[in-house]
Amino acid sequence: MNTPSASLGKNRIHQIDAEVLATRRAGAYTVLTLSANQIAAAAKPGQFVTCSVGEVGTGLILRRAFSIHDVTSTGGQGGTIDVVVAPHGGGTQWLAQRRRYDKVNVSGPLGQGFKVPREPVSCVLVGGGYGSAPLFFLAKVLAARGCRIEMILGGATADKVFGILESRRAANSTTLVTEDGTLGVTGRVTDVLVDSINRFDAKAIYACGPMGMLAAISELAVDAEVACQVAVEEAMACGFGVCMTCVLPIKGDDEVPRLVRACVAGPVFACEQVAWHL
Ligand SMILES: Cc1cc2nc3c(=O)[nH]c(=O)nc-3n(C[C@H](O)[C@H](O)[C@H](O)COP(=O)(O)OP(=O)(O)OC[C@H]3O[C@@H](n4cnc5c(N)ncnc54)[C@H](O)[C@@H]3O)c2cc1C
Ligand code: FES
Repeated sequence: MNTPSASLGKNRIHQIDAEVLATRRAGAYTVLTLSANQIAAAAKPGQFVTCSVGEVGTGLILRRAFSIHDVTSTGGQGGTIDVVVAPHGGGTQWLAQRRRYDKVNVSGPLGQGFKVPREPVSCVLVGGGYGSAPLFFLAKVLAARGCRIEMILGGATADKVFGILESRRAANSTTLVTEDGTLGVTGRVTDVLVDSINRFDAKAIYACGPMGMLAAISELAVDAEVACQVAVEEAMACGFGVCMTCVLPIKGDDEVPRLVRACVAGPVFACEQVAWHL
């Protein structure tokens, strides 16, 4: 059953009782494919959805935010969206236990997505853990524009690197990195980023993952003078601009930091906008 839509700024947000069409395991993660026609039709890479979690009476009141990993716009069920769930707390564990035909109440698309280049340039997409999820929807759009795509996918351990198989299709080349050396290069995504920028003459970097990783990538991107956009994952309680839990310090043109709501002004920001060390 679809419930009403609302507008927030330029975004039209839909709230849908989405049917789970498929689930699959991907290392430490569970990928849910949800029947969400209107959200799929409106979504842009880098935007997110919120899902209501838990049964009535479980006390899981707040919706949980998830990047849109992929969308399809056709097929017997109409448009679908995929979300990647890293189960840890009550809400994500509940979602990861959903099965085919279950319903999940989903709102979206929310926030501002990635800006894509007009020219077919080389792009480096860097993901840490489940932060890699939105980069695959982005890669589809960049590929359609003729961009060359290098992916750097990292995680603490091999099972936390998301999208290893998908990256073969989505990217022209991929570098895998784990902190414990169980897969690919031993170290962090930042250890291989400069080499990728140079090898592919990258003109744009897109990154999503933990804040520390994004701050380090931003520093390297500024030094290399390559445009860089980051999708932040600040804690979000409402996801549509009313609760102020997601405030992030941003530098204006005057270099003076001010707080913005990451859920409506972001989650995607130009890296030099974020006041990382405040
Ligand atoms: C834009 C965005 C995209 C994300 N994408 C993904 C993704 O693709 N895959 C994924 O697995 N996770 C993603 N996350 C993280 C995911 O939303 C959290 O892991 C999830 O909310 C945890 O829920 P839980 O019940 O399992 O954990 P718990 O830790 O039990 O609960 C977290 C709850 O606490 C609330 N909360 C946390 N901090 C505060 C605070 N300071 N004030 C008020 N409330 C707070 C949260 O909103 C949430 O409702 C994303 C988060 C954001 C903001
Ligand atoms: S999450 Fe409520 S204002 Fe951003």
